Formats: sequence, structure tokens, C-alpha cells
Amino acid sequence: MSSAYQIQEHTYDMVVVGAGGAGLRATFGLAQKGLKTACITKVFPTRSHTVAAQGGIAAALANMGNDNWRFHFYDTVKGSDWLGDQDAIAYMCREAIPAVVELEHYGVPFSRTEEGKIYQRPFGGMTTEYGEGPPAQRTCAAADRTGHAILHTLYQQSLAHDAEFFVEYFALDLIMDDDGSCRGVLALDMNDGTLHLFRAQGTVLATGGYGRAYFSATSAHTCTGDGGGMALRAGLGLQDMEFVQFHPTGIYGAGCLITEGVRGEGGILRNSNGERFMERYAPSVKDLAPRDMVSRSMTMEIREGRGVGEHKDHILLDLTHLGPEVIHKKLPGIAESARIFAGVDVEKEPIPVIPTVHYNMGGIPTNYHGEVVQIRDGNPDAVVEGLYSIGEAACVSVHGANRLGSNSLLDLVVFGRAVANKAAEKLTPGAALPDVPQASVDKAIARLDKIRNANGSTPTAVIRDRMQRTMQADAAVFRTQETLSEGVEKMKEIYASFEDVQTTDRSLIWNSDLIETLELKNLLDQAMVTIVGAENRKESRGAHAREDFPNRDDVNWMKHTLCSIDEQGNTTITYRPVHLDTNTSEVASIPPKERKY
Ligand code: SIN
Repeated sequence: MSSAYQIQEHTYDMVVVGAGGAGLRATFGLAQKGLKTACITKVFPTRSHTVAAQGGIAAALANMGNDNWRFHFYDTVKGSDWLGDQDAIAYMCREAIPAVVELEHYGVPFSRTEEGKIYQRPFGGMTTEYGEGPPAQRTCAAADRTGHAILHTLYQQSLAHDAEFFVEYFALDLIMDDDGSCRGVLALDMNDGTLHLFRAQGTVLATGGYGRAYFSATSAHTCTGDGGGMALRAGLGLQDMEFVQFHPTGIYGAGCLITEGVRGEGGILRNSNGERFMERYAPSVKDLAPRDMVSRSMTMEIREGRGVGEHKDHILLDLTHLGPEVIHKKLPGIAESARIFAGVDVEKEPIPVIPTVHYNMGGIPTNYHGEVVQIRDGNPDAVVEGLYSIGEAACVSVHGANRLGSNSLLDLVVFGRAVANKAAEKLTPGAALPDVPQASVDKAIARLDKIRNANGSTPTAVIRDRMQRTMQADAAVFRTQETLSEGVEKMKEIYASFEDVQTTDRSLIWNSDLIETLELKNLLDQAMVTIVGAENRKESRGAHAREDFPNRDDVNWMKHTLCSIDEQGNTTITYRPVHLDTNTSEVASIPPKERKY
């Protein structure tokens, strides 16, 4: 089999897959530690989806009022609806401060206060005094283009270190040994069709989320969860995939993001009566409630007939009262997006918005060093040797059932750095690598070959469209047994239809038909475990809102779902316990209580 394809072999200490914020921070961190590191990426690094993050990165710098990382910890645990691992959350919130200072020193052009400090804005669910004080100004911003600023700075730092980039390489499959350890990754150079076997002591999956499993998402078309797909094919379980975040303010129709920073700067959501309806749902924080709550409240308004527009099916985001100065200085990017994608002048008219898929809380389970974990011999935290994951691809779990806005850019840099530290502690630069498990390489090539020559009757785009519409309709903001069971059955049919997929381009040079089909397979696997996990979880928690089980059920469901899938699409669910211990004397764990704002 392998002889039909040219394979070039590369050996490294570490290989990072993905060049977004997490992948880049890990890549140059590893190189800085003296580990020979490669970064492979399907898009040019500065085109990674981190570039689209707008509002900011959370860190309790206290530049603009009272704050403390312990308040940030409290808010994140509460925001996660007590599904987040408190050891990982404590680590992230404490490390947030040095991580943001480090970014500043690397050259991120943050907006500034009058005294020259990093500018910080309020964001949803971020409060002071353990939820008793006023909203925190904690989200560090570079106007409304923070992700863009951070991504470019991290890429510049990467170039200053001795890491090697393989750009426009598509990662096909993990190379796994019989003992379950990861030995590297097989990738396709999309430019010339050559295959590349990256052998390494450690492989880091920093491949982002799989938002494109849905019809309407703020995610780029490249967000196809390629790392999650590879992990599932390697027989690993993904964690908490039923928790999918809907961002309250995607532009109606186009789906582009309008940052939560708009509400942080004073923007208001209004229904068809012009009413500021969030006052009824979250009396203390109003429009700055966490995303799961705001998205549900908007959906309720629409259902009860108070939506706007011809079909009364969306809501208005009003920032006309903010004035041109605030808009030009702090929100220039969204003013442009609203003009281009909604035809709206934000100084004069409100923006039509709708909850839109934005983030996957679930992913490849890891500890807070970025090491991938699974259940083995009764140990729920058993490390998969040689495999790491960070960023949206991973589930650490710092976001639990619902991520707070601006904790994502933070997660990227904190855990990108953590993985570099861990690898440096565990590995010896230049250590000899074990033999290549040839059976795993052959299996990966056989899969590629089958998809490249797929001679069925259903085009990739048709299967993708069915999957996206099913996920959008049946694994939505509100869920019931009926919609979920129906969705699972539909997804089984759609999954099976991949056997009949039709690719038409047989070449290996810039074959976008092939790449989109490989991406579709990654999406299908993750869509399936998402909807099966949602059907299985009989409670409401964070972003998983079951109308038939409206309450959180800590007795039966305060646990992480771990879901794997076989080649026929059959899923298996097991559970990992939530870490309620903070693993540090610096902050006490927060016992579960009702989540009110
Ligand atoms: C936003 O600016 O609203 C998105 C940032 C995030 O998801 O954290």
C-alpha cells in the first residue's frame, strides 16, 4: 500500500498540529526549551481562526478597579455550572496574570488607559467579590481585534525561535503504537501531494473546534475539528461534547461574530417592543449574563412572539447610544462587520442578531499540563503517552458546561505555555525514537486512498449539508428527548451515507474535494458523539438545556461524559469524575450551588 504514495520521514522531539494561538504558543515555547519542534498547519499561521477573536482575554490585572484572580476563579467555576475541573480553573486564573504580561512584553498592541495600562472591559459572568460585587473590568482588549493582535504577535515570536513550520500540510491520522502511545502523525502536503511522517516523542493537537458541524456558526470554514477526528479514530474518547456554546450575537443570516465586548461597552439587547428584556432574566448583571443564559433568554423572547423582522425570528443589539467616539475607538471592527454583513450603520441603527454556534466546550480530555488522559485500569486520569492537546481542541476542563467570554484566548496561551513546560520536564532533547508502528501508518494511508478514490453517489457537500441542518435543528439551544432521539437517528443515517460518498478529483495537487471530504469525516465523527452525548445527559447544565429535564442534577450528572466511536459509528459512553479539589492551598474549592445572576 505505502509504495503507491511517496512518504518523507521527519524526526523531531515534538510536533505541534495547528498554528492558532495555542499551537503557536506551544511551538515557540517548546523550541525555547531546546526541543526540536515542528508545527504543521493546514492554513498559513496568521489565517488560523484565533484571528477572529474580538473582545479580549481575561486576567485579573485590576487595572481598572478592584479585582483578584480568586474572583476570576469563582466566576469561572460558577460559569462552568460546576462541570469545570477546579484544579485546572485555579491554575488558569492564577497563570492568567503572568500570561497577559508576557503577551504585552512580546508586543501585543493592547488598548491603553489614560495612565498607559492595559485597557480592560467588562464581559459576561465576570464579577468581583465572589459574585457579590459589581461586574469586573477584567477582559484585556486590543480594541475589538484582540485575537488578530495576539495571533500576529505569537507568529512573530515563533519566527524568532528555532521552530520549523510546515504550512498547508493537512494532518491525516495519529500514528499509534500497540501499547496505546502516540508516535507521531501522518500529514499530506496539499501543494504537491507528498505524504509526510512526522515521528516525535510528543504530538500536540492544537487543531481548534468543530463549529462547522452546525449550519450557522461564527467559526471559520476551516474549523472542522481535525484533531478530535484523529483522536476518535485512534480509539480515544472525547469529553463533554454535548456542551456546545451559542454566542448570543451572531449577525442574523451571515453568522459573523459581533463581540460580547459590545455589551461590555454598554450595548443593549432589545425585543420587538424595544424592551431591554435581559432585566427580567438576569436582574443584577442584565445583558452581561453568561452566554448560555443570554442565548436562552433571546430564544424565549423569539418563541413568545417578541422577535423582530419579517419572520419575528431574531433580536436587536442596540449601540446607537454609545456615540461615535466609543464606537470608533473601541469597536471599529464590528462597525465594519455590521456594515458589510447586515447593511447597518451602528451609530444610527441596531444590529440584527441571533444565537449562533461559537465554541465547543468539549474536546480531547487533558490534565492541566496538556497531557491527554483516558480511563485505564480504573484510573480516570491515565495519561496517553506521547499525546497532548491544547486550545479549543482540548477539554481540560476549564470551561465545563459553559465558557465565559474572554476565557478562550486565555486558555490558548496558558495551556500552550503549560504543554511546553511539561514536555521540557519529561523529555530529553534528541532522545532516540522507538520503531515506527507500520500497521498504523498503513491504516492511515489506506483510509486516505479509500476517500480519494471514493466512487459513491453522494457528493461531500450533500452529506455535509444534511449533517449541519440536523445538528442545527436537533442539538439546538433548547433540547428535548424527542428532538435529540430524532437527531440521533438522522445522524446515524447521515453517518452511514459517508460509505456512499463521491469524490471526483483523483489528483493529489491542491485537491480541495479530497480535503473537504477528509474534513467532513472529522466533523461527522464529532457531530455523532455530540448528539449522542446530548441525548444521554438527562439534566440541564450550562449550555445543555433540556426542556424535559430543566434542572441541574448533581447527584447523577456531575460527571464528565467520555464518548468514543467505532468505524461503523457505534458510540460508547463512560464517565470521568469532575475534579472538585483545587490542588492548591491558594484558593478554596467552590461547593456547588444554584447558578443565579
Ligand atoms: C467575543 O468577543 O465575544 C468572543 C470572544 C470569546 O469568545 O471569548
